[in-house]
Amino acid sequence: MSETAPPVDRASAGKPLPKPGLMDIHAYVPGKSKAEGIAEPTKLSANENALGTSPKAREAYAAAIQHLHMYPDPGAAIVRKAIAERYGLEPERLIFGCGSDEVFQILNQAYLEPGDNIVQGAHGFAAFAIGAKACQAEVRMAPEPGYRIDVDEMLACVDERTRIVFLANPGNPTGTWIPFSEVRRLHEALPPSVVLVLDGAYGEFAVDPAFDDGLELARRSANVVVTHTFSKLHGLAGLRIGWGYAPADIVAAYDRIRPPFNTSIPSQLAAVAALGDEAFQQASIELVERWRPWLAQQLGGLGLETVGPSAANFVLVCFPRTPGRTAAEAEAFLAARGLLVRGVGGYGLPDHLRMTIGLEAHNRALIDALADFMRS
Ligand SMILES: Cc1ncc(COP(=O)(O)O)c(C=O)c1O
Repeated sequence: MSETAPPVDRASAGKPLPKPGLMDIHAYVPGKSKAEGIAEPTKLSANENALGTSPKAREAYAAAIQHLHMYPDPGAAIVRKAIAERYGLEPERLIFGCGSDEVFQILNQAYLEPGDNIVQGAHGFAAFAIGAKACQAEVRMAPEPGYRIDVDEMLACVDERTRIVFLANPGNPTGTWIPFSEVRRLHEALPPSVVLVLDGAYGEFAVDPAFDDGLELARRSANVVVTHTFSKLHGLAGLRIGWGYAPADIVAAYDRIRPPFNTSIPSQLAAVAALGDEAFQQASIELVERWRPWLAQQLGGLGLETVGPSAANFVLVCFPRTPGRTAAEAEAFLAARGLLVRGVGGYGLPDHLRMTIGLEAHNRALIDALADFMRS
């Protein structure tokens, strides 16, 4: 919201006007899923699971057809129980959303009023800011030197109107991460009135022992929320289900305004089955662990630097500004070959492309195409 925008008399506008600042919000731009003239492009633009979905989750989804006439359980009891058991968490401290996107949105609605602010990294995930701006809050972007969250820069943005600090760890679109010691330092320096949201959408792909998603920190804190999603590791992006682990007071605020039936019967059933399919989860992690360093190395061989190292299921690649070699031209070149990757100009990274780690054939096709692009 611009503080200098002239006040608008909405009552006498002669038509319904959205609230101030709303039309200045840039709508979320999803990863491309279509390439002109190509029937089935390879989609490496949305960080989906290259292995698809757990067969067990698919079966559970199919079985859901018997229940489609019924409202889902608003408390998502079966998912709540499964997550609580799997992670050793108190079931009553879990919150659910139509994707973790909705968890962020509801937290924003619950804690922000006009003039408040949120703090996030300069290249932070777009959904944090969209929801905050819709609450007429200010979005403060802390510089990320070296494409990495810097705790001191984040803290420097915090003031008495800060209500939420969002930290995606690993980050999207950077793929970089900060060790738990830094997360703890951030938490210790924040006023207790600030909610610290630790978004672990890609946390399962971060295998370094210094990484921690923060569940233990959240267990003993009154202001930490850890979020996770079924979209990435579990390959359920199409079903839209995410969750968070929060202190009792935050759960109470959240559930007051949460749309009651925000996770569907198919998503609840599939999520429970996916959680139980450890073989699929392991295979998903192994695929990423195997091809992530390979991609970085091959890209380096082409003279293209990757940001990182990435701890997520994608790599962020930097292109030169030389005409004929730019990120935008590479994106178009790859699309013409049926390979869809993600331009991230909207994240303040106009020279970069984000590429989801695919199956072997996808990864090899990507490198072959980029080799041709760099030679062309
Ligand atoms: C950093 C980050 N957090 C959260 C999400 C949201 O995931 P979902 O709404 O599918 O649960 C994404 C999705 O791309 C993401 O990149």
